[in-house]
Amino acid sequence: MTKAINLMLKIWRQSEKNKGHFEIYAAKEISRDMSFLEMLDVVNEELTKTGKEPIAFDHDCREGICGMCGSVVNGRPHGPEKEITLCQLHMRHFSDGQTLVIEPWRSRAFPVIKDLVVDRSAFDEIIQAGGYISANTGSAPEANNILIPQSAAEKAMNAAACIGCGACVAACPNGSAMLFAGAKISHLALLPQGKPEAARRAIHMIREMDKQGFGNCSNETECEAECPKEISIVNIARLNREFVKANLVSE
Ligand code: SF4
Ligand code: FES
Repeated sequence: MTKAINLMLKIWRQSEKNKGHFEIYAAKEISRDMSFLEMLDVVNEELTKTGKEPIAFDHDCREGICGMCGSVVNGRPHGPEKEITLCQLHMRHFSDGQTLVIEPWRSRAFPVIKDLVVDRSAFDEIIQAGGYISANTGSAPEANNILIPQSAAEKAMNAAACIGCGACVAACPNGSAMLFAGAKISHLALLPQGKPEAARRAIHMIREMDKQGFGNCSNETECEAECPKEISIVNIARLNREFVKANLVSE
């Protein structure tokens, strides 16, 4: 049996009524086999038992696929381990007696709703601005009718792995959403079905990004380093190329 650990948690608490502050909690007898979110569940159970307000945090699948979870743990979005979402992070990566500082994503475009929950609807607005194919293609065609080079299919699939969690924005000193938008633009632009609208899509999504208050990219590469799905900054270069093409077409 693995030995349980005790932790000190410094957690950001915020509601409509207060501007936000850190509160300290003890997380006692935490199994190393628990996920980070299960550890928060245990803390919340204790808070509820003592009549205190539980800590609000986002989650859904708890399997690393939906993109709902995410907090900054000791300064790192999704915690200290690479290529993993907060829900898939296990307590075995922490040591007994450690202090964990847990904060929401910090970005102008992601206002805090409550505690660790932020409003990421700005991402939805970016998708609505162009992250789709508008051609009415009818029912699914025979897959072999449109031949796609394997390398293009692989790059498109890699870009499509983005789960929209927002860690890239939280990691970026400019609060830029370029990695997210680059992934969405790439996965469509690389495939024949998405190519015709690629340039127009880039212009609309970039305009929306600016409107939503995201910053620009200055090649810090923090986004790539913290992305749980290994989305490469190559996708930002592709976004920029589509944007340049769009401007050349409209000139
Ligand atoms: S690019 Fe990575 S960090 Fe950014 S939203 Fe997509 S999965 Fe999350
Ligand atoms: S809860 Fe779905 S990715 Fe973490």
